[in-house]
Amino acid sequence: MKISHYYCITSLLLLILFCFSEGWCADPTYGFTAVPLTEWNFELQKPYDVPLEERYSYENGVRKLWVYADDKPHDPNSLTQPRTEVRIRGLDYSSGVWQFEGYAFVPNGTSGVTVSQIHGAAQDATTLILRIYNGDMRYYSADLIATGMYDRWFRLNVIHDVDGGKVTVFIDGVQKFQVKDKGPGDLYFKCGVYAAPRNISYYMESRWRDIKIYKK
Ligand SMILES: *[C@@H]1O[C@H](CO)[C@@H](O)[C@H](O)[C@H]1NC(C)=O
Ligand SMILES: *[C@@H]1O[C@H](CO)[C@@H](O)[C@H](O)[C@H]1NC(C)=O
Repeated sequence: MKISHYYCITSLLLLILFCFSEGWCADPTYGFTAVPLTEWNFELQKPYDVPLEERYSYENGVRKLWVYADDKPHDPNSLTQPRTEVRIRGLDYSSGVWQFEGYAFVPNGTSGVTVSQIHGAAQDATTLILRIYNGDMRYYSADLIATGMYDRWFRLNVIHDVDGGKVTVFIDGVQKFQVKDKGPGDLYFKCGVYAAPRNISYYMESRWRDIKIYKK
């Protein structure tokens, strides 16, 4: 091999190394193991008085979930806001390191809505709420996580390190947000549409495909 080839290979390796060190090449699922899922793992919650097909469809691998601001809660005894959501069933966790992955699409006009959450915490009802407000993604109604979320597919990865007490959010493979969690509890992932307490659009929709759960 010529000297110039060594230079070439060395620069390539350095470039790859640099890419990883900068977090550009690192995949959030690296080092995790996918948990096998069946349709049973996808429990659906929707306004109690309407049939599922009026708020949910599943075609060509895409789950579409929608809800209206004046819909009923998921349970007649509940006072919560309307929702149509996938609740990951059978994979509740209370320790370890877990990850949710999904590709999501939120149409322009959908606002004031939680599109993904980690349900459960030591004290609160939730550990993480990811809401869309006017095309922005926020942590609850506060911290801005990402902008320009309408009318495009984006990849969402949420890592919950229960043992380390932290939650990390990635959009399109790039880390966008990290926050302390709220302690262990009966924890599980959800996605779909769940109306926020305020600033709600009348119609709310999100679409999801390739939902995966990983753990370490
Ligand atoms: C959303 O739709 C409104 C009304 O049609 C438009 O003014 C706005 O620019 C759109 N926003 C995005 C991010 O496409
Ligand atoms: C909710 O609406 C109020 C009043 O229109 C506004 O001041 C506030 O910024 C909105 N909050 C969010 C998170 O969009």
